[in-house]
Amino acid sequence: MLSTSLESIATVLRRAREVVVFSGAGLSADSGIPTFRDGATGLWNNVDPDEVASIEGFLRKPRVVWDWLLQLKNLVDDRHPNAGHQAIARLEDLCTGKRLTIITQNIDGYHTQAGNAQVLEVHGTIHRVRCHRRCGFAAVWEQSAVEPFPCPNCGGPVRPDLVLFGEMLDEEVFAAAGIRSLNADLFFCVGTSFTVQPAARLPVWAKGAGATVVEVNPHPTPLSDAADYSIRAGASQFFGALCARLQESGPGR
Ligand code: APR
Repeated sequence: MLSTSLESIATVLRRAREVVVFSGAGLSADSGIPTFRDGATGLWNNVDPDEVASIEGFLRKPRVVWDWLLQLKNLVDDRHPNAGHQAIARLEDLCTGKRLTIITQNIDGYHTQAGNAQVLEVHGTIHRVRCHRRCGFAAVWEQSAVEPFPCPNCGGPVRPDLVLFGEMLDEEVFAAAGIRSLNADLFFCVGTSFTVQPAARLPVWAKGAGATVVEVNPHPTPLSDAADYSIRAGASQFFGALCARLQESGPGR
């Protein structure tokens, strides 16, 4: 099953001018970063996201949100991109002459660490903090910053530079993600459950604009029926096999 789909997906890729890889927490699962909604290990099955990851929660009890996100940041700093991230970086190298963009919901920075150049982080990053009042202050989230501190510029609250529940996505980043999705000939969706909007609209926009949509997920999702290919495999296995196939027979164009 995987092998037949691989050959036809490789054929679509060879003809493609523009490729998008849209990723979620499942891609970083093999790095030891828990997903949000997967069974017993899913983070939101063990803690209330409104309390530890929402803007209301932050304004009510900043320390609670800061502590929980700092724990996640320390785990992310301890771990590394996995074979799935590395294969997607290799895919970019194999796609010379094409445009390959990563649109990620992940805040771990692993795509960039693995070597991908065009990465749109639609939910922000866990590696930076910024002034909540958007006065312009932003900085690396240093390990030493173990508690919330006031903005050195305006005195406002400093918070992690990621999108908390109840907040809008960065307009520029999401607009760029929308444009790449509408221009994609081939749109991979890997490791996401399609539960969070507006990011979950991107594959639907891509499909509507004529892209071939390939879902990679060990479990079915709300997108599975609409996808052209819904591959029941893990990210590392699928992208590793795809790169091997392309290296054997060439990426085309
Ligand atoms: N390879 C591919 N997919 C996997 C793997 C794997 N090795 N392991 C698990 N998955 C799949 C699961 O089957 C599930 O469908 O990854 C998906 C993870 O889903 P979620 O935990 O809901 O993560 P995600 O879709 O990225 O969440 C979206 O929600 O909590 C917010 O802001 C947070 O960005 C996040 C957003």
